[in-house]
Amino acid sequence: MSKSLTEQLKQEVEKRRTFAIISHPDAGKTTLTEKLLLFGGAIRLAGTVKARKASKHATSDWMEIEKQRGISVTSSVMQFDYNGHRINILDTPGHQDFSEDTYRTLTAADSAVMLIDVAKGVEAQTIKLFQVCAKRGIPIFTFINKLDREGRSPFELLEELEQVLGIRSVPMNWPIGMGRGLCGVYDRMNNQVELFQGDDHSNIQVQKVEDYRDPHIREMAGEFLHDQLCEELELLDVAGDEFDYEKVKRGELTPVFFGSAINNFGLQTFLENFLKLAPSPAPRQSTSGEIDPTNEKFSGYVFKIQANMNPAHRDRIAFLRICSGKFQRGMSVRHVRAGKDIKLAQPQQFLAQDRDIVDEAFPGDIIGLFDPGIFRIGDSLSQGSEIVFDELPTFSPEIFARVTVKNALKHKQYQKGVDQLTEEGTIQVFHNAGVFDETILGVVGQLQFEVFEHRMKAEYGVDVQLQRLGFQFARWVVGSQIDPTKFRINSQLVKDKKDNFVALFENEYAMRTAMEKMPDVKFLETAP
Ligand code: G4P
Repeated sequence: MSKSLTEQLKQEVEKRRTFAIISHPDAGKTTLTEKLLLFGGAIRLAGTVKARKASKHATSDWMEIEKQRGISVTSSVMQFDYNGHRINILDTPGHQDFSEDTYRTLTAADSAVMLIDVAKGVEAQTIKLFQVCAKRGIPIFTFINKLDREGRSPFELLEELEQVLGIRSVPMNWPIGMGRGLCGVYDRMNNQVELFQGDDHSNIQVQKVEDYRDPHIREMAGEFLHDQLCEELELLDVAGDEFDYEKVKRGELTPVFFGSAINNFGLQTFLENFLKLAPSPAPRQSTSGEIDPTNEKFSGYVFKIQANMNPAHRDRIAFLRICSGKFQRGMSVRHVRAGKDIKLAQPQQFLAQDRDIVDEAFPGDIIGLFDPGIFRIGDSLSQGSEIVFDELPTFSPEIFARVTVKNALKHKQYQKGVDQLTEEGTIQVFHNAGVFDETILGVVGQLQFEVFEHRMKAEYGVDVQLQRLGFQFARWVVGSQIDPTKFRINSQLVKDKKDNFVALFENEYAMRTAMEKMPDVKFLETAP
């Protein structure tokens, strides 16, 4: 007898883990991703992902900037199987110049792996990405990388997680030595040691022990390191946080793993514990209430649109996160915003940049839909009833520029380009409806300006000029008592595309002053 759909959905959802790796550039995200793919047998050769990074995306020429700067501007998705689990890794751009895309991709993840360099600790970009995850309350797992190098004391790093990010931590394993003296890690949850041996450290052994006082460890690590281990773990037992799964699930406590991605060290402990603890796809909020992933009706939402991945077709791909039901190729679904049914004929799934046609997919999976220009970021697709997922958050821009068109005759194309790029979420547009009609662009990362300039030229044939403005903050102002004359010093009042008032401020002081002067007006970080 064939399984019922609900039964099949339960099983498929249960085995899925969809997560993003968040880190500051150089912490080792490419390396970690590659090692995880190797574990899963999704790639056979070390260097595959790295080579992709190094070849600067030879397959996607739409973004010259990617090539010029050797960075991945847009995020891709990688899927593989391990130990009965189906894993989806959402790749987020690692460069300092990241964008709203990066933030939005995080909304498609059910958990995050925060990767930290043992010598550098919590860095600027880690903080930003962490905050987006923390806002959503998803579980965050920490991997402290490069243990084969001298780094900071594990206690100091844990303290930093709490001080800088405000999250408590529970070490799942603990280093025995570090740098040249790295001998292994002790797995606190499973009472075993993972030893790092051999001249080239290629020999990794896992051995079950009684507990950390076990004489076997002393034999292998020597008296000095073993005494240190015992001392540190005793301290942790007494003063450290206890493992509390409920807190982990709410994102209040982060399980911490130490290891070295490049040496495969500590990775197995990490991956296996992570798969055990990380959540499978959870219910999602929609206008019709909570949608359970095992709901038989298919539903999902577009979290990202990428233009012209395949230069031969100049197509666009809309990335859809499946939230419930079973996806089948050729199925008809409701495009809720457009108010019409569409057929999902040529969906694609991803292993990095290689695209495969997918026949079926389940909640937690990401599929790429061919987009002839019908999708916008945040669009919901559903079967049966009309489900609308809570709109994706827009993020407050932090960098601003005045834009002008060099050739006034190109104004129509310019407008088309601006509309399209706003829809894709590359930029936010503001107008100053004063004496001069001035267009101001707001973005989260500097790179978005470069992307804008490049795509306006390449896709719409329009040369634009951007002049950086000194503003740092945008706040949507709501209320009946808005006084435009109060936005003259180090600030400016503009309107967004829906005619909402937005105040731009050069510094925090100007922002605070305006808030104090208009106590009845609300200043919101994102559009109301
Ligand atoms: P990213 O994607 O986060 O930017 O980092 P990536 O994996 O490219 O790693 C950044 C650098 O850190 C690379 O060195 C990489 O080899 C190194 N690395 C990653 N994991 C470890 C580790 O566990 N231990 C040590 N010692 N190094 C690690 P690179 O010199 O910049 O590049 P390459 O010459 O290795 O290609």
